[in-house]
Amino acid sequence: MRSWRPFQIKRLSIWRPHTRFGGVKQTKLALPAPNRFRRHWGLARGIVFLNHGSFGACPKPILKLQDRLRAQMEGEPVQFLWRRYEERLDPVRAEVARFVGARPQDLVFVTNATTGVNAVVRSLKLRPGQELLTTSHDYNACHNVLVEAARAAGARVAVARVPFPLRSSDTVVEAVLRAVNWRTRLVMLDHITSPTGLIFPVSRLVRELEARGIDALVDGAHAPGMVPLNLTRLAPAYYTANLHKWVCAPKGAALLWVREDKQKELQPAIISHGHNTPRPGYSAFQDRFDWAGTFDPSAWFCAGEAIRWLGELLPGGWRELRQHNHELAVQARRLLCERLQVEAPCPENMLGAMATLALPARFQGRPRTGRIDAEQMRLYDRFGVEVPFMRFGQPEHRYLRISAHLYNTLADYQYLAWALSEVQIAT
Ligand SMILES: Cc1ncc(COP(=O)(O)O)c(C=O)c1O
Repeated sequence: MRSWRPFQIKRLSIWRPHTRFGGVKQTKLALPAPNRFRRHWGLARGIVFLNHGSFGACPKPILKLQDRLRAQMEGEPVQFLWRRYEERLDPVRAEVARFVGARPQDLVFVTNATTGVNAVVRSLKLRPGQELLTTSHDYNACHNVLVEAARAAGARVAVARVPFPLRSSDTVVEAVLRAVNWRTRLVMLDHITSPTGLIFPVSRLVRELEARGIDALVDGAHAPGMVPLNLTRLAPAYYTANLHKWVCAPKGAALLWVREDKQKELQPAIISHGHNTPRPGYSAFQDRFDWAGTFDPSAWFCAGEAIRWLGELLPGGWRELRQHNHELAVQARRLLCERLQVEAPCPENMLGAMATLALPARFQGRPRTGRIDAEQMRLYDRFGVEVPFMRFGQPEHRYLRISAHLYNTLADYQYLAWALSEVQIAT
């Protein structure tokens, strides 16, 4: 399946030496060479992977550990999943808690951020007329949780329209606070937005909302590993986050942190044994969440090792890794804005390791088809570039979102610029 791809890309790069695109001459490019970090990831050869944001990518040593854990699970299923379950769970919980600045007793694992949002929103005892507030930059799956919970209770979902492009994070604070009123029961805030790749000023917002007596649920799906976290200090009512994105844990590793005063009311999306089976030394909150029925907990058990392993890749540890990814995303965006002749839609200080920017004019004005955009498919199928296209705003504009991780180099984005200049627009 993969073997044809490098050949096809090579052939293509010979076929058209130059093209004009958005006023800037694009030179034909060969597929970028892998850097020294890429060998740690199992990413397919011949692919320029610029979408760490969607599902992350787990390094080989972490997957090897997961293989070993799975072998132990199948070797001694009852020991692994029952009698000695907590012996593996507790140390990992402590390591993850340290990483995100939390107390272990306030933190439980979930399989993904969607599950975390479901648990919180579906535990609210909403009353008719109350409002759940979100922003226009939220993640569709999580938005749907609000819609369904509101529908069931006769409540409603309100959306704070945050413009994009925007000049400063003040715009976010103003838009959210303008939309708050006495009916607002909960505000769902993305820490780093999915369609637009913005770091939202969650600490300011949580403070402002708390001062008005309103709870915040922070959807931090992209935050751990991309930005430093101190959940105890941030102290929203609820915070959920993925570890399988920027911490590079195996898929199915995520966390839910709940402030102590909110834990009592909270039910997991799946009710299981913990509901009536307290364990000595654990909070009822942990009892309810630690077991959601038979499943494979190996992704959770790898989270501590992912934190340790990635933290040792650069001499400056996680701080340097986050800084590296941020700087690469910033440089990549500068390069792409210049090559594509588009304006940067937000200041650089609102970027982490992702950046969303407008596609050039020739990509605009194409209606949705209900499928993944044809040009995004072509970028992958013909050029080997994995990058998501987005549609955002009213009127709708088309964007792409780049990600930057250790296995990427600036050459990846140069290659993307060239591929974009070559890709045919769907008619
Ligand atoms: C902001 C945001 N929230 C939630 C999610 C959902 O993550 P998951 O599919 O792991 O539940 C994503 C996924 O990309 C996201 O970007």
